[in-house]
Amino acid sequence: MPHSKHKPVLLNEVLRFLDPKPGFRYVDATVGLGGHAVAILKMIEPNGFLYGVDQDGDAIEWCRNRFSQYENKFQLLHCRFAELGERISPDSCDGVLMDLGVSSPQLDRGERGFSFMRDGPLDMRMDQNRNLTAEDLIRDMRLDQLLTILRQYGEEPKALRLARAIVKQRQITPFTSTGQLADFISQTIPSRNRKIHAATKAFQALRIAVNEELETLENGLKICFGLLKKGGRLGVITFHSLEARIVKRFGV
Ligand SMILES: C[S@@+](CC[C@H](N)C(=O)[O-])C[C@H]1O[C@@H](n2cnc3c(N)ncnc32)[C@H](O)[C@@H]1O
Repeated sequence: MPHSKHKPVLLNEVLRFLDPKPGFRYVDATVGLGGHAVAILKMIEPNGFLYGVDQDGDAIEWCRNRFSQYENKFQLLHCRFAELGERISPDSCDGVLMDLGVSSPQLDRGERGFSFMRDGPLDMRMDQNRNLTAEDLIRDMRLDQLLTILRQYGEEPKALRLARAIVKQRQITPFTSTGQLADFISQTIPSRNRKIHAATKAFQALRIAVNEELETLENGLKICFGLLKKGGRLGVITFHSLEARIVKRFGV
């Protein structure tokens, strides 16, 4: 599927909630392929403004091409949403959208290292400028650190068995590819449900750790909220229960 045909998640709900109007100012804090952004841009014409933010350089490049015709109404910012306090004035926006999780190009392209379905380097960095990869984590973490990540970020019930097996195996062969790790996990803790890959939870755990997703979300919510004018709206689409918990706690 061409990226531009990609259908953004909960588009109608997002538009109903944010209620973009001509002249309004918005932040798409996770612009990705720009599916939500294009819809918001159309609704705020002719004199509204949208910031498109992503920590992934590929997403920024993609949107630079996609939105070239919106030159004076759209600005791309390559950073984490928790860093927006330094890039956008406080109390200046009518709405902020955060659509959390990985994008389809991140998952679909094996070389990004997110997928247990497509072989590639054990990378998982959303921001390719950062140093720490999943390969580094798997190689360097102590048993207790690996166990904590698998339990807390993956909610993996067989975390102890898996963490012990990884620590033992890496002394024989280092883990360097997603396919190698996924196969090892399938052999160590086979899934009882054929529809769910045994590596699903462990891959989620590693991805969250590599990208410091939960810490960034906690900070990002405060920062993004601070960008809003009085009466502005912050919309967050969560992907898993760990994120949802943080967002609900913030909203209380
Ligand atoms: C689910 S996709 C967003 C899809 C987008 N709404 C669309 O319509 O195409 C999530 C995007 O958020 C980005 N992202 C995740 N965490 C981020 C963070 N802390 N700061 C900035 N971007 C982030 C990812 O790189 C990814 O491109």
